[in-house]
Amino acid sequence: MWLELASDEHHLAFAEWAQHNRLEEQTCRPIANGKRIPPSHEVITLVFLVAGIDEPVGRFRYFDINPRNRSAEFGYTINPQFRHQGMGTRMLNLAVTHVFSNTNLNKLYCQTAAFNTPSIKLLEKLSFHRDGVLREHHELDGKLWDDCIYSILRREWKITDR
Ligand SMILES: CC(C)(COP(=O)(O)OP(=O)(O)OC[C@H]1O[C@@H](n2cnc3c(N)ncnc32)[C@H](O)[C@@H]1OP(=O)(O)O)[C@@H](O)C(=O)NCCC(=O)NCCS
Repeated sequence: MWLELASDEHHLAFAEWAQHNRLEEQTCRPIANGKRIPPSHEVITLVFLVAGIDEPVGRFRYFDINPRNRSAEFGYTINPQFRHQGMGTRMLNLAVTHVFSNTNLNKLYCQTAAFNTPSIKLLEKLSFHRDGVLREHHELDGKLWDDCIYSILRREWKITDR
């Protein structure tokens, strides 16, 4: 047994193997005309504004929109001046409701470092599900930390309760 770099001829053989399985079974990514559609670079950015505060309080972005499984990844930041005052909770509440009300997405997910206590507390407080842990995935100052993936499904988000 051995491994070597694949040649062009090997790649032709690999392409023939692909005929024996449906591409849909091999990837969750979008497919059109039998080919994977490259990831979209579209980023949708929402600003969180609060009456009586003159500057933006937060930013929520969603991206890597996958129209096949109707999912998107998201990220969020609160203006450092307004952290630890419940603003993150309010913004994420509004943002998830906004996305589920204005798109056909079924799932929103995010990746956050295990050391990011405010972020993890926020996600768990809003009943996000911890889908998995990417072990030793996040390098910080020479140390490798876990990253956690959290998600929420449309049916889990009770819009009327909020
Ligand atoms: C993560 C972030 C958005 C949280 O926003 P926030 O406005 O501070 O959040 P909230 O005030 O709503 O607090 C959410 C929870 O985190 C806790 N928390 C907030 N700041 C904390 C801190 N510095 N230490 C410990 N817990 C903290 C709150 O107590 C609350 O939990 P609780 O209700 O159980 O008490 C904010 O810290 C931030 O912008 N961080 C930098 C960007 C970032 O890390 N984004 C996430 C990457 S995926």
